[in-house]
Amino acid sequence: MNKKVRDYRDGDNVEGYFLVKDAQEKLGKNNTRYMDLVLSDDTGDINGKIWSCREGMQSEFEKSCVVKVRGTVKSWNSQLQINIEKIRRANEGDGVSISSFIASAPESAADMYNMVLTYIDRIRNLQIKQLVGEIIKQKETRLKYFPAAKTNHHAVRSGLLYHITTMLKMADKVMEVYDLDSDLLYAGVILHDIEKTSELDSNEFGITADYTEEGKLLGHIIMGIKLVERVGAQLRTDPDILYMIQHMIYCHHYEPEYGSPLKPMFKEAEMLHYLDVIDARMYDFTQAENSITTGNFSEKIWSLHSRQVYKPTLK
Ligand SMILES: [Fe+2]
Ligand SMILES: [Fe+2]
Repeated sequence: MNKKVRDYRDGDNVEGYFLVKDAQEKLGKNNTRYMDLVLSDDTGDINGKIWSCREGMQSEFEKSCVVKVRGTVKSWNSQLQINIEKIRRANEGDGVSISSFIASAPESAADMYNMVLTYIDRIRNLQIKQLVGEIIKQKETRLKYFPAAKTNHHAVRSGLLYHITTMLKMADKVMEVYDLDSDLLYAGVILHDIEKTSELDSNEFGITADYTEEGKLLGHIIMGIKLVERVGAQLRTDPDILYMIQHMIYCHHYEPEYGSPLKPMFKEAEMLHYLDVIDARMYDFTQAENSITTGNFSEKIWSLHSRQVYKPTLK
């Protein structure tokens, strides 16, 4: 039985099937051409290299095709990659289906979507309820499969919905301790990343090869503010309500270098930021922990400030 991606170690021999998430021809030192691939199974992604490939090879491995690979796992710059010796596209005779390679959120998209609807039901302010409900209705199809990121946290099918529902559950917990307006906090959680559905270019498997043009030029924060403005104008929402929800979207990344020019100016906006950070960090820690055995360290995780994650032995 072949190992899964998350169990690979330096020096392992690999022979198995992978989904191609990305394939790019690149020029290395001395103008040698090589292929840089992102290969995945349902446990994670790994970089693959075909050294000295021929020109035009990229077109043979378009995104979301399944390939059979033979190679060796090597650690390079603290990251594992497969040096590929042999690769070919899978054919019908191989009997492999794409869906078995797709990493998905641990809960079903329909259940998570319904959970979001129950939270919208609990919003008491009718204008906020209507605004959030309308936006979620418009985004239903994409929301059900979109990841929350290209790489890093929640970069799996339905990852964005998983991120939102986890944050909603956390919101309930923090409101047992702190006096916060639940209408604002629920609205902020549900809408803060909603325009990731237009910032990223994802297929129905939740695989994102790139950002959209608008996503690159504006990003989901500005796009989210514009969406709230548009829908708010259609619904004639009170401008004060729109400013508050737009402010929450505006500051949720907290730092100018991450896209938020202002710091939060009310409690619910401050809390939204921390719920967002907690959920992203916990997800990345859990992913890293799943890739190692107890008492060991992971590779350096870029999204965790290049820390190596340790898996405690006292469990
Ligand atoms: Fe965000
Ligand atoms: Fe987020």
